[in-house]
Amino acid sequence: MTSPQRIHVIVLFGGESAEHDVSCVTAAHVLQALDTEKYRVTTVGITRQGQWVLVTAHATDKLLVSGTPISITEIVAQVRSDERAVVMPLLHGPLGEDGTIQGVLEVANIPYVGSGVLGSAVAMDKGVAKQLLAVNGIPQPKYVTLHEQHITDAALQHAIDTLGLPVFVKPANMGSSIGVTKARNFGELRDSIVLATSYDEWVLIEEAIVGREIEVAVLGNLTVRTSLPGEIIPSSEFYDYNDKYLSDSAQLKIPAPLTAIEIDAVQKLAAVVFHTLRAQGMARVDFFYEEGGRGFLCNEINTIPGFTPISMYPKLWQASGVSYSQLLDELLELAFDRHSRRRRNTAH
Ligand SMILES: Nc1ncnc2c1ncn2[C@@H]1O[C@H](COP(=O)(O)OP(=O)(O)O)[C@@H](O)[C@H]1O
Ligand SMILES: [Mg+2]
Repeated sequence: MTSPQRIHVIVLFGGESAEHDVSCVTAAHVLQALDTEKYRVTTVGITRQGQWVLVTAHATDKLLVSGTPISITEIVAQVRSDERAVVMPLLHGPLGEDGTIQGVLEVANIPYVGSGVLGSAVAMDKGVAKQLLAVNGIPQPKYVTLHEQHITDAALQHAIDTLGLPVFVKPANMGSSIGVTKARNFGELRDSIVLATSYDEWVLIEEAIVGREIEVAVLGNLTVRTSLPGEIIPSSEFYDYNDKYLSDSAQLKIPAPLTAIEIDAVQKLAAVVFHTLRAQGMARVDFFYEEGGRGFLCNEINTIPGFTPISMYPKLWQASGVSYSQLLDELLELAFDRHSRRRRNTAH
């Protein structure tokens, strides 16, 4: 149901995580694409120290978090009575994509784009997400999760015995390939663990999959649409931070060269992962494709996927017939839909 009220979009970006810079690039592009005829837009940045500021100067390629301090209460107070306010949290990583900001927005009673508290938190913690996928029988690489207090030489040797070599090591709570390394032997595994634990107290060790990297964009709440799959051909040994944001050298194949049967299979699996991990609004679900082996294996879900011009999520929708601005419109409507459903259940 649409309402004639003007929509006031509050773009929230920056943040305290290591992915601050990525968020600034995403925000600049979303701001450029938001139709200011249609929407009143307020831009709120979060500094690396966690201070919220009202940003008025807009750059076209990368936004800077600078402006006058503003609180969530002041933001809510600025919403006019003839407007419907909605927040677009364009924050990646911990304290942005992990349910914490979503909790603040729930308490402030403002609709927001994307997953709620639970879905965000589950998706952000790769260890918990894997356990949920496992109990639901969703195919994925073999893995071991460890808390730093249980990391011993014996535990690492046990991981190697279970998973073989090489292995991938990652912090449970991070993104953009930050802290992800491939370890070929015991010594490298130890080094990888030191790096991963500098980002999170929980780490993940996974068997190294030899396969293609296939990604699917999902859009919706209770019922979802899935995009055509895309494929990533990393320029280096794996799809690292440099490939994702700096060099533009990874190749994206959109749509991925797959048969109709393969496309159908991976789209169905993406929707199942989305619902299993309690995602809402949007998510990009990433797979490895072990051809001739186990088929599609879920790698991870991203509840706030990148939105830069070289990002997979908007490109996948474009290839599937949904333009960038249509995508933003739909995401805002999905935010209102979820909010009203949630309010119905919490307002007693
Ligand atoms: N188990 C694995 N086997 C093979 N490659 C992997 C594995 N895990 C991660 N990678 C490589 O590392 C990249 C980043 O890992 P990922 O788990 O997707 O972390 P992020 O959340 O930072 O994107 C992947 O895109 C892939 O290229
Ligand atoms: Mg990834």
